[in-house]
Amino acid sequence: MERTFVMIKPDAVRRKLVGEIIRRFEVRGIDIIAIKMLTVSQELAEKHYAVHQGKPFYAPLVEFVVSGPVVAMVLEADDAVRLARNMIGALKPSDAMPGTIRGDLTTDTQRNLIHGADSPETAAAEIALWFPELQEPAES
Ligand code: TYD
Ligand code: MG
Repeated sequence: MERTFVMIKPDAVRRKLVGEIIRRFEVRGIDIIAIKMLTVSQELAEKHYAVHQGKPFYAPLVEFVVSGPVVAMVLEADDAVRLARNMIGALKPSDAMPGTIRGDLTTDTQRNLIHGADSPETAAAEIALWFPELQEPAES
């Protein structure tokens, strides 16, 4: 089993798509290990998106993610990182396939409803950043 980090973004909360997005993970059979709604601080947003620092979309991205409450989650499944990324869909709206969260629910590159960790290493770092209170899964 693997854990991943996903974060339902402020646009999805505003559009009342939280239930719709969580439903997709639940009906797929993915376990929700931790979940919380929070308004993100500037500091957390900057740390979360540090990899994009210096890119032209960085400042607007940070501003967007602090613009309203988000829902952060830790999901667990076999190959959870890849599974969740595939369910989320591509960043480029015209590449996001129907059946994916982005492909079904948005046409906007920035207001794209949900973040998903892109590797097991990133997932572990993001889980530690967003859920410092959460225990590591036991080695098996
Ligand atoms: P990225 O990690 O490339 O995409 P993903 O969310 O699919 O992992 O980019 C992070 C976020 O930055 C992305 O969700 C939206 C924003 N972004 C833009 O607004 N414009 C852009 O051109 C890019 C590449 C990203
Ligand atoms: Mg990314």
